[in-house]
Amino acid sequence: MSVLTATASTAESANPLIGSAPPSPAGPVETLDGLATPPHIRWPRPVQVVWFGQRQWHFMFHHQQKFGGVWLANGYVRGSTAATYHPDHVRSLFKAPPDLVPTLAAESPLRPVLGDGSVLTSNGPRHLRQRKLLLPPFHGEAIARYEQMIADAAEREIDRWTVGKPFALAPRMQAITLDVIMAGIFGIEGRPRAGTAERALRDAIKSVLWSSTQPGAKLAEWMNIGHDEPFGLTWLGLFIPDRCMYAVIAKRRRDQDLEQRTDIMSLIMRARTEDGETLTDDELRDELMTLVLAGHETTANQLAWAWERLVRTPAAHELLIESVRGDAPNADEVIEATINEAMRVRPVIPVTGRRVTVPWQLGEYGIPADTGVAISILLLHHREDLYPDPFSFRPERWFGHKPGTYEWLPFGGGTRRCLGAALAMAEQRVVLRAMAERLDLKAADERPEQPKHRNVTMIPARGGRVVIRAKR
Ligand code: HEM
Repeated sequence: MSVLTATASTAESANPLIGSAPPSPAGPVETLDGLATPPHIRWPRPVQVVWFGQRQWHFMFHHQQKFGGVWLANGYVRGSTAATYHPDHVRSLFKAPPDLVPTLAAESPLRPVLGDGSVLTSNGPRHLRQRKLLLPPFHGEAIARYEQMIADAAEREIDRWTVGKPFALAPRMQAITLDVIMAGIFGIEGRPRAGTAERALRDAIKSVLWSSTQPGAKLAEWMNIGHDEPFGLTWLGLFIPDRCMYAVIAKRRRDQDLEQRTDIMSLIMRARTEDGETLTDDELRDELMTLVLAGHETTANQLAWAWERLVRTPAAHELLIESVRGDAPNADEVIEATINEAMRVRPVIPVTGRRVTVPWQLGEYGIPADTGVAISILLLHHREDLYPDPFSFRPERWFGHKPGTYEWLPFGGGTRRCLGAALAMAEQRVVLRAMAERLDLKAADERPEQPKHRNVTMIPARGGRVVIRAKR
């Protein structure tokens, strides 16, 4: 038995809300002899695409009940995709050499939007190079210097909110996280000034996000299936943001102080390939668009989910408020536990995927080379053996327990683990604390908000609607 399982079972005896999964063999195999083929969903591909795309929560729990551990589906990417949610299967995929497990993001509807030059959608040597380049500015210590800026953005936003009037948190959280990401990437303190290329880009990104909430957005996503380049509505939607992005790039290329600047954009612009070449405008566009889009909607909705759960779970809500306002010695631990638990029960990215390039064992099943594997973060986070009482929101689960690398996956893992994880955690800590300090919140409507699937994210259907009862 692995060290990980041993650690988990030690924690289990101390903490009744943390358990462990029975071992399940997984990894590359020479032959599939002796291994069964996973059961296959029989619905035609278009039905599965629409069902998964619109109601992933229902789709996944339904098939888990029907098939158990592993099954095959037909979705957004070519061929069949095996769905799994066992930590040992996850470990085998996250620890494998990258050429055995390229990311499915390269084939997903994200690909035409972000382009092939993006760290998120590229594979192989290009991916490794881009990642190496981007890791330092996203490292925990580098992020620490953004904390004051995040706190200022949060305070400014909270100042604007009105007591007694119901409102959705998600768009307000997005205003904060968009400012943070724009500042981090483009090196602008505070919100970009009106009339600047950066401000035009910020506004264009906001309108893309707005249009992605409209009914036509799903159609745009489906029109992209099978296309490597933006097509139809996506092409139209990206026209203006792309022009703004190229304008920002052109402006920065003309800047005299490019060599001295420490923001992420300048860093990528100065970087050189092995052959000594700098990135082209198209490559820069893909990378920057990825960071802007991946970097703020996710964090904003994750925060909205945390409050959606908190205002419906009085014990957790009171504990957070009391620890933060009373300056309790364990306030940081309570904040961290609340975030960990919100990301467990409502992972804003509910699935991530790889394509195995060699035959692979997943428990009793085997899948041939060139099969997609969908790791259901959602199902893994609701495993009863790992997380007793899995559907309840219980931050105390995490007291004295660090999330396991293959048991808690809101940021994915392995060589593709989210680059922005440290930034996203810092933003959540700072904003959650500021809101808990200053606001008495309640749900605008007691009924829990259903998960809604938008692009690759799972968001609260009503945006996390709350009412401020009192404000400090
Ligand atoms: C709560 C907020 C966030 C969540 C839940 C989240 C989640 C994820 C997940 C699940 C992946 C895929 C990992 C995998 O396939 O193993 C990912 C990748 C990525 N994320 Fe995030 N993310 C968040 C915030 C951010 C931020 C703030 C940034 C940057 C500004 C960012 C940039 C990226 C990038 C560049 C990748 C691709 C990494 C690669 O393929 O090497 N994310 N994220």
